[in-house]
Amino acid sequence: MEINSSDRIKKLTGYAFDEVDKLVKGLKEKGVQPIDFGVGDPQMPTPSLIRDALKRATDDRKSAGYPSYIGDENYRNAIADWTKRRFGVDLDPAREITSNIGSKEAIFNFAEAFVNPGDYVLVPNPGYPPYERGTLFAEGRPYFMNLTEENCFFPDLTAIPDDIVKKSKIIWVNYPNNPTTAMPTKDFYKELIDFGHDNNIIIASDNPYSENYYDEKPISILEMEREGIVEVQSLSKRSNMTCYRVGWLAGDENVINVFKKLKTNIDSGTPTFVQDAAVAALEDESHVEELREDYRIKRDMLISAMDRKGLPDCTPAGTIYIWQKVAEGMDSVEFAKKLLDEKVGIVTTPGNWISSDVDGVNPGQGYVRFALVPPLDEVEEAVRRFENLEI
Ligand SMILES: Cc1ncc(COP(=O)(O)O)c(C=O)c1O
Repeated sequence: MEINSSDRIKKLTGYAFDEVDKLVKGLKEKGVQPIDFGVGDPQMPTPSLIRDALKRATDDRKSAGYPSYIGDENYRNAIADWTKRRFGVDLDPAREITSNIGSKEAIFNFAEAFVNPGDYVLVPNPGYPPYERGTLFAEGRPYFMNLTEENCFFPDLTAIPDDIVKKSKIIWVNYPNNPTTAMPTKDFYKELIDFGHDNNIIIASDNPYSENYYDEKPISILEMEREGIVEVQSLSKRSNMTCYRVGWLAGDENVINVFKKLKTNIDSGTPTFVQDAAVAALEDESHVEELREDYRIKRDMLISAMDRKGLPDCTPAGTIYIWQKVAEGMDSVEFAKKLLDEKVGIVTTPGNWISSDVDGVNPGQGYVRFALVPPLDEVEEAVRRFENLEI
């Protein structure tokens, strides 16, 4: 029998990290233990209080049954309490919150709820791939908004052509931003909220890095407005819970309602014992503070190592990344390959691999992304190996 993939699948280019995986394999074959700053997946354990809560929950819920589509009341209450403590925002757990199976799922599926064939979705570039992929699967059209240093890594909303704006249903934003590390500002959110309201475009704020900051706490757009706005949240990076697949959506009840309707057709909710572990995570801030401290040490070590090599200062104020400008005269891949030299063995993600070409311009060109995810001893080793970097 001949197995043929759909046209939609055929059209997709490979996931960028497949390429990174191949390069890592190549290094290992040469006997070099690579230090992997490639994928943004924390390599440190999930804090024990969360693992313990999960273990207890599997016993407490012996007869499990399907979970609730929107999340257990307990879980939604814990989200509302946390949002109030952290952002000062009151959310109604019954109407304004719904759970997800990690934010990737919610982001990918979101367009399906609001986009008709041919409608546009405004997508940051570089940006998390499911903004674009979810749009394509919903038969919508992505319009890339380049994030460049000149615009402080904010999209230039005034540069989006009027005919595209008219046909747009959703605008995705993500601050603290992966990969550029830009932080949210009230001025930008004000402009964005006016833009969304004036043009009837839903604002989807993807905020998984809200707790990964160094000094100033990032704001949430929900502090400023709720109408036509939804925030997608996740515990993956706040609490080292990427494996648990748990997060939520919060905001405008009318947006949440449509999404809830869609989701009853897609999955059967977040496993309840995982929600119990998420409640334990949300009720504790001390592990989040410890993780922040760990990221700070790693960030400072790497930034100093880059400074010693004469690379531009790209110290981030938030996220778990460094969006490092490459050495003069090199492009992203050349620089990433230098880092993959046998004497260095450092894996990063070339910026142009996680950005799309728009009219021949790739805004990720000239950068590599370091995800500060290896354990501290490996970062120390990376700093030592950095001395061997020939640029
Ligand atoms: C910007 C952004 N959004 C969403 C996600 C997905 O997080 P998760 O699906 O683990 O909640 C990531 C993961 O790296 C991300 O960088």
